Amino acid sequence: MKTLVAYFSWSGNTEKIAKQIVAKTGADMFRIERKVPYNEDYNTCAYREAKEEIEKKIRPEIKTPLPDVEKYDSLILAFPIWWYTSPLPVWRFLESYPDWKGKKIYLFANSYTDDHNYMTTSLKDAKASARNADVVAGLFNKEIEGLDEWLTQNNFR
Ligand SMILES: Cc1cc2nc3c(=O)[nH]c(=O)nc-3n(C[C@H](O)[C@H](O)[C@H](O)COP(=O)(O)O)c2cc1C
Repeated sequence: MKTLVAYFSWSGNTEKIAKQIVAKTGADMFRIERKVPYNEDYNTCAYREAKEEIEKKIRPEIKTPLPDVEKYDSLILAFPIWWYTSPLPVWRFLESYPDWKGKKIYLFANSYTDDHNYMTTSLKDAKASARNADVVAGLFNKEIEGLDEWLTQNNFR
């Protein structure tokens, strides 16, 4: 099974998880970055930039050329929770492909609050963005402690 780990990370937590997954599986990796970087100041990023995006459902442009997802059977999509769901660049990434038919997307989300409703919301939003994909929950927050077991159970190694 050929896998791509695509991740968005602003303050580094998700990047750490994504790199662990890559190290354990040998999957390829792609960082989803907004073309215009978010401000480094938390309040500006959270309460101005990210809040406006989620309120207006703005899909920001992505910085680097997108990977050819046709090469992959599955995608591990890792991101922090931003305003109760995935950051809008993640929506933009998923919507950039016209058809995800035959691909399985596993969501890995982390957040400050351990509220599993965030995974439910992210799942709903990712399903709406990734046309025809089979989108499923991967691991959320503390569940990451079971990463090794999860990777084995799901045939990633
Ligand atoms: C713009 C923004 C919005 C956030 N919204 C939430 C939220 O709704 N709920 C929550 O529990 N944490 C929220 N957080 C906290 C992040 O989900 C958490 O710190 C995460 O681990 C950051 O991952 P990263 O280091 O990969 O960016 C938010 C953080 C930012 C910057």
